[in-house]
Amino acid sequence: MYEQALFNPLRIGPYDLPNRIFMAPMTRSRADNPENAPTDLHALYYSQRAAAGLIITEGSQVSPQGVGYVNTPGIYSRPQIEGWRLVTKAVREKGGHIFLQIWHVGRISHPDFHDGMLPVAPSAINPHDRSYTPSGFKETVIPHALTIDEIQAIVQDFKKAAVNAVFAGFDGVEIHSANGYLIHQFFTNCSNTRTDAYGGSHANRSRFFFEVLDAVGGAIGFKKVGIRLNPSAHGFFGITIDQDTIPTFEYVVNRLNDYPDLAYAHLVEPMLPVDNVPHAVTNIAKHFRPLYHGTFVTNCGYNAESAHRVIADGYADAVAFGTAFIANPGLVERIRLGLSWAVPDINTYYTPGPKGYVDYPAL
Ligand SMILES: Cc1cc2nc3c(=O)[nH]c(=O)nc-3n(C[C@H](O)[C@H](O)[C@H](O)COP(=O)(O)O)c2cc1C
Repeated sequence: MYEQALFNPLRIGPYDLPNRIFMAPMTRSRADNPENAPTDLHALYYSQRAAAGLIITEGSQVSPQGVGYVNTPGIYSRPQIEGWRLVTKAVREKGGHIFLQIWHVGRISHPDFHDGMLPVAPSAINPHDRSYTPSGFKETVIPHALTIDEIQAIVQDFKKAAVNAVFAGFDGVEIHSANGYLIHQFFTNCSNTRTDAYGGSHANRSRFFFEVLDAVGGAIGFKKVGIRLNPSAHGFFGITIDQDTIPTFEYVVNRLNDYPDLAYAHLVEPMLPVDNVPHAVTNIAKHFRPLYHGTFVTNCGYNAESAHRVIADGYADAVAFGTAFIANPGLVERIRLGLSWAVPDINTYYTPGPKGYVDYPAL
């Protein structure tokens, strides 16, 4: 039974996927051109991995303000849309399905990206981490606390990004609401001390997320929208868990049931060990799967066996693999045949050019 679980077809939204092996979103920083547009190199990289049940792309910034790393591709300009079209065409020609992850990093950005202007966040709290700027790693700064009008403008940026994504040929989008970036910064007390409609209660701290979801789903259809959450994120990008963090995410996940058409909810297991962190949940899939009635995608640290098991045991409908897909473009075939996995070279995760990107052998 375990062997079969990953290869049972899965329907999400209007799409019939041949397997439940998803490619997790991974920033690879190859858009090293003035437009930050994807190129033929991106098309080759993603098409090599088109056997995945669903590819979720690297985070793509919804606006110039949303950028936080060098050479990440955007989805707000004509050249970027044209660049992404190369990618979607190449993946479709191989019979694959692909969602674009849409992203705003908030306070993880740096003034160097914005002609000296401050990055933005729910509140003026420095995450005390590092930002990967055009001139190397720099300390993060105290961000500008967004006004309500500015929040509304960012909701519109997400909506436009989703419309652009569909125009570029994507099957859908994943809203990046995880990993300490802007939407996540609204969820947690450590980064959100607002006293208006966007801070305080669970409803208020998730208001921005649901406004983005409503705008994006309203524009392209909820069947084409997935979301990503990382409830036990702790100890990076200034994110810390308190007694109210997990209840906030429970509130969010429960409310996702009001969106029966949503393509999927993608919940990440703790990226750093949280066994000794008070109030953290160590097994996200076990804790949150029972709360959500739709398609549940899990990720982080899975091998073939544990991925088979989590689906067979009913704790997820699909498993997203990250680093495994970097070094194993033929990961689906490797899992099918029970072959071992190549190990990725961490030194080329974010370096420009084909090395460590498109030169890993298929099998
Ligand atoms: C090089 C690299 C880049 C990543 N970029 C993103 C990203 O853009 N968006 C995101 O949500 N997660 C990102 N992640 C996290 C992965 O999606 C995934 O959660 C993580 O690699 C754990 O899964 P794994 O154990 O299968 O690798 C990144 C991870 C890596 C290794």
